[in-house]
Amino acid sequence: MTQHKIAGPAFNVESAEGIYLHGRDGDGIERSIIDGISSWWVNTHGHCHPTIVEAVRGQAGKLEQVVFAGFTHDTAERLTRKLLSTVRAAFDGCEGRKPEFCFYSDSGSTAVEVAIKMAVGYFKANGQKRNRILAMDGAYHGDTFGAMSASSRGIFNEDWADMLFDVTHLPFPEQGNEVKTFQALERYLKKHGKETAGFVFEPIVQGSVGFRMYSPMVLQKMAQMCREYDVLLIADEVMTGFGRTGTMFASAQAAISPDLMCLSKGLTGGFLPMGATLASKEIYKAFYRDEKGGMFLHSTSFTGNALSCAAAMASLKIWDDEPVLERIQNIENAHRTASSWFGVRPDVKEVRVKGTIFAVEVSDEKAGYLSDVAGPIYNFMMANNVLLRPIGNVVYILPPYCIEMHELERIYDSLWRALDHLRDLRAVDQGDDEAEQMPRVRQKVA
Ligand SMILES: Cc1ncc(COP(=O)(O)O)c(C=O)c1O
Repeated sequence: MTQHKIAGPAFNVESAEGIYLHGRDGDGIERSIIDGISSWWVNTHGHCHPTIVEAVRGQAGKLEQVVFAGFTHDTAERLTRKLLSTVRAAFDGCEGRKPEFCFYSDSGSTAVEVAIKMAVGYFKANGQKRNRILAMDGAYHGDTFGAMSASSRGIFNEDWADMLFDVTHLPFPEQGNEVKTFQALERYLKKHGKETAGFVFEPIVQGSVGFRMYSPMVLQKMAQMCREYDVLLIADEVMTGFGRTGTMFASAQAAISPDLMCLSKGLTGGFLPMGATLASKEIYKAFYRDEKGGMFLHSTSFTGNALSCAAAMASLKIWDDEPVLERIQNIENAHRTASSWFGVRPDVKEVRVKGTIFAVEVSDEKAGYLSDVAGPIYNFMMANNVLLRPIGNVVYILPPYCIEMHELERIYDSLWRALDHLRDLRAVDQGDDEAEQMPRVRQKVA
């Protein structure tokens, strides 16, 4: 996701702690940068959280990795029990079957691959041929071929478009125009419902397309419509999981419990790579047979890696021991106050907030991933020691949950000035004095 030919030298990180990345920039100058994007949305409790450091260190001295077929280990067993009880609690009272079994892999993309294979395999095991997958316009589910196929067609996968399998993408439920999505879904289900294995979706927030948000009620209705045709619900909670949108899992806000759920990123607190695909008992049972054939054939060499399991277990312990939800709520409150200020800027099209996510969509004729907004904003923020990596013309803040209010304030303040800087650059380009019409001050949040 970086064009090496035109990018400057990379920042070299020597150590990290909490929200800070310490290292040397391309000129060899020592600097500390605020990680405003949780290192690509993975980090939840801050870098090098001592509880996770200790857990991984302890595990490394005992068992690092072992084949997870015919063999098991306590750390994986304990994690699975803990993860499933966390999921059960999060989906208490929600409609649908509960995820009760867990398959470990090593990334978000593989968690999605596994879910798609399970969905298709489940129907095959039950004597039905259902090879279709339904998804949403704007979706991003990863960069392996199955995950790319499920993703919306566009910049991230167009070079391989001919090699992807066909997936129908429903129109995104724009606020006020959701009926268009429902109608499209109804038409689709009437025609292909009985050939469709699963509906894969990013619940309530689509990340990579630029943090587009939609109502939980819309998701609930779509889920109910899919259920009428026994289409399995595959929640891709890779980005939204583990508190990112204000609740442990975003699907619970729609009061639906998915048949399959994909987790990664925040699963280990962002400490080590790990993917998990959670499945309902019915799906597990479809592959549970007296004969050898018909098993769920998918191998991942590092499945159940003991260090990743220890990190995930420690991350869930932090959820138990520290006021994580309160931190998330404080971040959301600050974001909401900041949104009212950013929202009145004439150069801002929209501000979107959900849980710890704050996204500013900058007005731009060339909207989208290749917009020219991203470069100047990134450079300005880095010059001010804050890492934000805009997605085209959408600049977002997605911090580790341990961020303090004065640190958040520093990010908003730098972002405000970054937008001023962009405005000035544009004014120079256009040779007009648009710059003078913009507000210069912003009230502080904290
Ligand atoms: C919703 C979603 N699904 C899947 C993925 C892929 O995860 P990974 O990069 O770990 O393969 C991402 C990555 O950003 C994501 O946001």
